[in-house]
Amino acid sequence: MEDADSILSNIVASQVDIHSRYGGIVPEVASRQHLITILPVLESAMSAARADWKDISAVAVTIGPGLAGSLLVGVNVAKSIALAHRLPLMGVNHLEAHIYANWLSKDKPAFPCLCLIVSGGHSDLVLMDGHGQFKKLGRTRDDAAGEAFDKAARILGLGYPGGPAMEKAAADSEPSFPLPRAWLKGTDDFSFSGLKTAVLHLVRDNDFSDPVRVAEAASSFQQAVVDVLTTKTIQAAERLGVNQILLCGGVASNTALRDSFNGSSPVPVKIPAPGLCTDNAAMVAACGYYHFQQGKVDGLDIDVVPSLSLG
Ligand code: KG4
Ligand code: ZN
Repeated sequence: MEDADSILSNIVASQVDIHSRYGGIVPEVASRQHLITILPVLESAMSAARADWKDISAVAVTIGPGLAGSLLVGVNVAKSIALAHRLPLMGVNHLEAHIYANWLSKDKPAFPCLCLIVSGGHSDLVLMDGHGQFKKLGRTRDDAAGEAFDKAARILGLGYPGGPAMEKAAADSEPSFPLPRAWLKGTDDFSFSGLKTAVLHLVRDNDFSDPVRVAEAASSFQQAVVDVLTTKTIQAAERLGVNQILLCGGVASNTALRDSFNGSSPVPVKIPAPGLCTDNAAMVAACGYYHFQQGKVDGLDIDVVPSLSLG
């Protein structure tokens, strides 16, 4: 990345094909793949950016939350680069990096913002009062939104990764099955495991050999998740009087969710381009940029924090 928002290269090495054989992420396989791909990815990123090491001013790397084995690969390579080229090093929180994907455009968000982070491991509502100032208001009490998409897709036989498969299946279908929504009134928390179980019972008790029925179930599930995320986030944003809602995380690439927020929120909404919602390097660089600006530079003693939270 150059300056605050111009992306020079953003190479993503997807492991989807490898993990889809197992129906989900296998931690040992993931870390070994990281080890195999990290240097070729670095080389392609440098060549796509037409950059030399002397052009680099600082290195940012994710320290957590995430799988320890995969985080260790990234952190150790980042430390080696920082040491070899005498560069400042910034260890960043993966969730904070997702939020900073919203800074990768010319029109910057206006504080205070309410951030909805919806990924494979998190459904968090976080108030952001300024750079690096976070207060967690709500979280999922069971499955994360992305995790629920993945599990429901598996129940419906739509394969892995579930989110994109569910979105594709739901595309031309009506949400005709009445599925439950957990509102958890009076809190900013979410819950999606009841919805997932409802899909399980639906499939168990009915004939789903017709793909039209599967598509309708996918659409019904997606609509239930979208309703809850949109309604609860907008209610919280109005209650808090924030200037902007920021969406981020892999699930924020979902078109139905994006359309729902854009079509119904009285509070301005900002959502990164779909490719900047799912895990990517540019969001980590954006987050690192603001750490650097604030003098938040780390030493070579940083370590991975697999259960790191935000706010
Ligand atoms: O942020 P992310 O790329 O990785 C994590 O930090 O977890 O999010 C991955 C999650 C997965 O659960 C995936 O199924 C979900 O985001 N996801 C989607 C879509 N694309 C990815 N969920 C719904 N609709 C999508 N289009
Ligand atoms: Zn992520």
